[in-house]
Amino acid sequence: MLVEELPLPEKAIKLLKERGIRELYPPQEKAVKYGLLDGKNIIVAIPTAAGKTLIGELAMLKTVLEYGGKALYLVPLKALANEKYEEFKVYEKIGIKVALSTGDYDSSDPWLKDYDIIIATNEKADSLLRHRASWIEDVQVLIADEIHLLNYADRGPTLEIVLARFKQLSGERQIVGLSATIRNAEEIASWLNAKLIVDDWRPVKLYEGVYFNGKIIFSNGTIKDVREFYPRDDIANLTVETIKDGGQVLIFTNTRANTIRISRRLKSKIMSILSRDEKLKLLQLADKMRRASSSLMGEELANFISGGVAFHHAGLNYEQRKIVENAFREGIIKVVVATPTLAAGVNLPARRVIIHSYWRYDPRIGRYEIPVLEYKQMAGRAGRPKYDEYGEAILVARSMDEAEYLLTKYIRGEVEEITSKLAREQALRGHTLAIIALSQNTTLSGVLDFMKNTFYAYQYGVENMIVKVKAILKFLKESGFILEEDEKLKPTAIGLRVIQLYIDPLTAKRIIEALKANEPKHIMAYIHLICHTPDMPKLYLRRGEYEYYAELAKEYEGKLFFDIPNDEKELEFYLAEIKTALLLYYWIEEISEDEIIRKFDVGPGDIRSLTQTAEWIAYAASELAKMLKLNEHSKILSELRERLKYGVKKELLQLVRIPGIGRVKARILYDHGYRTLEKLKQARIEELIRIPLIGLETAKKIKQYFGLEIKEMEVKKRREKVEDKSSILYWIKYSG
Ligand SMILES: Nc1ncnc2c1ncn2[C@@H]1O[C@H](COP(=O)(O)OP(=O)(O)OP(=O)(O)O)[C@@H](O)[C@H]1O
Ligand SMILES: [Mg+2]
Repeated sequence: MLVEELPLPEKAIKLLKERGIRELYPPQEKAVKYGLLDGKNIIVAIPTAAGKTLIGELAMLKTVLEYGGKALYLVPLKALANEKYEEFKVYEKIGIKVALSTGDYDSSDPWLKDYDIIIATNEKADSLLRHRASWIEDVQVLIADEIHLLNYADRGPTLEIVLARFKQLSGERQIVGLSATIRNAEEIASWLNAKLIVDDWRPVKLYEGVYFNGKIIFSNGTIKDVREFYPRDDIANLTVETIKDGGQVLIFTNTRANTIRISRRLKSKIMSILSRDEKLKLLQLADKMRRASSSLMGEELANFISGGVAFHHAGLNYEQRKIVENAFREGIIKVVVATPTLAAGVNLPARRVIIHSYWRYDPRIGRYEIPVLEYKQMAGRAGRPKYDEYGEAILVARSMDEAEYLLTKYIRGEVEEITSKLAREQALRGHTLAIIALSQNTTLSGVLDFMKNTFYAYQYGVENMIVKVKAILKFLKESGFILEEDEKLKPTAIGLRVIQLYIDPLTAKRIIEALKANEPKHIMAYIHLICHTPDMPKLYLRRGEYEYYAELAKEYEGKLFFDIPNDEKELEFYLAEIKTALLLYYWIEEISEDEIIRKFDVGPGDIRSLTQTAEWIAYAASELAKMLKLNEHSKILSELRERLKYGVKKELLQLVRIPGIGRVKARILYDHGYRTLEKLKQARIEELIRIPLIGLETAKKIKQYFGLEIKEMEVKKRREKVEDKSSILYWIKYSG
């Protein structure tokens, strides 16, 4: 089917063609035939790279352009949300307003009402529903990307609840679910009352195989010899071969340390096959990386980049990640060695994907083999349309037996079934409270009625949930989050607030109990309190660190809200909390990022995600304290929140509020005598640029922050010149 034949407005068709889309892929055509553009619910379960996004886009275009409705596009991860936002922004050309909504969970984001396409993470969408964002009523089509993630314990339940809630809204609304190939797609389709499209068509041929001892055995039985460039270095040989043939390589491994180890081993080998021109570009890129992030990790990345290789994992910060991904897309970086963070949804020019390890480690369950679904996601990064004519996915085996095993399990084997994880207590606690809070006046059977809409109920029957829900109701009652009168369940004021703050009720309970029972304490007590909640991820305690943190815990004995536990297992958790708290403490005491990275063996991206989560819990805690009239606690927590946001001591809080002034620059300004905003306001530009690290750009930003001056100062000069367009632009820039 040609794009022209689609029942869409001319401008949409024109834009699609400009983007290089002329003809629909077969599964896309099927979706249209099944009623995608007539508001029908559709689930597609098709291979990687088969063009699922466009199926969502077509439904969105129809709704927005022809019915004036809104579209909500859900993704599981912030990184993916950013990528979709970049992609969908082209629609602004035809007057569609596109928004990205991922941050702040305590808001209904009323500004979104002016937008047509809203991209959100599942969590953000859930929080918007909890805040009863008024514009949700206008959402006529919901796209759930990567809907197979229903299967994942940490993120699945939220997606399930969002879908269940959307199903319950009145009026006709469309749901489009985009899934990887899974075994029981028909269950998801039937749950959502949707037509199902299953297909194994892929636009670019993907050859899957297992590598052992110099040979790749492909799924169809053919065997290919890999050229030996370096004796006994399988990964290097597999990589160099593809690069020599003009392709690029993506390597997946299981740990961050491995991404670095493999990059190190590859660097000189890749470098030796690059042209002068390529090397020059890489040197420039390495410089760019150094300038963008002056951390240790930035330096290490820059060093590898100069050889054409980069590692990629969640420890990188946003800028570092973007530089690596973009340069790989542009063909400047030839090899990326990644943890599975890069496995879902992204389009990259990897002709060959090498899966170096199919093992994972989880401290709670030990070593385990990845599910087939995860293998397929990684493999599917190879051979993407626009980039390559074919793709290869290669699992590395260490013996012939293992090669056989991998071939059977991952390549010829079937993907797992998706099952609901909603019954997990941690998930159910918050969602049950949310159901009660949103209905204001319900009963146990009312709660169960809502649950009937869930995938859990579809798969297991709602009666299997009763015991769990009852236990949770008991917990919520005892914690003071709900009241029960004549079987009617009502949220308390605090219970309602917990829902809006988007924290686990158990987090709220721990915070409230600690604050109520204690006088104000040392700041470390509050940081530890944050780390003692289930919403806060913890750093792992490494072997050999136990003693150190046990000592530290003893030093803080009596100063924190929670004492050292006697139970051995609990003690280990407690010490991990102390370790995490210490990182946050270093951060707000202005210890340098590099020192934190070294001491805690984390990356800049980890510091960012840990401090962001801590900031959110500190905010929630200060709000709860305020409600309970625990004003002293609330004040301390609210200040802590700001310090966590910027990573500074109290005295710098005024300065870091200026855009462009981070913790480092604020400290320099402060130490040069600019301790207040007033003082800074009076400073002359010439004085400011003399201070180390404060260049002209920063000095301008500071002046701009104080608004009026710069306007008067600059505008006076400009008035003398002839009025031209640029001065009007100047006005707009500075008065905005
Ligand atoms: N009909 C089409 N014609 C040309 N290119 C297309 C068409 N449909 C999709 N594409 C392109 O194919 C590529 C892969 O599409 P997309 O990212 O939607 O795959 P996907 O099915 O979501 O894969 P994954 O499972 O990996 O997320 C994109 O670059 C997209 O622009
Ligand atoms: Mg996709």
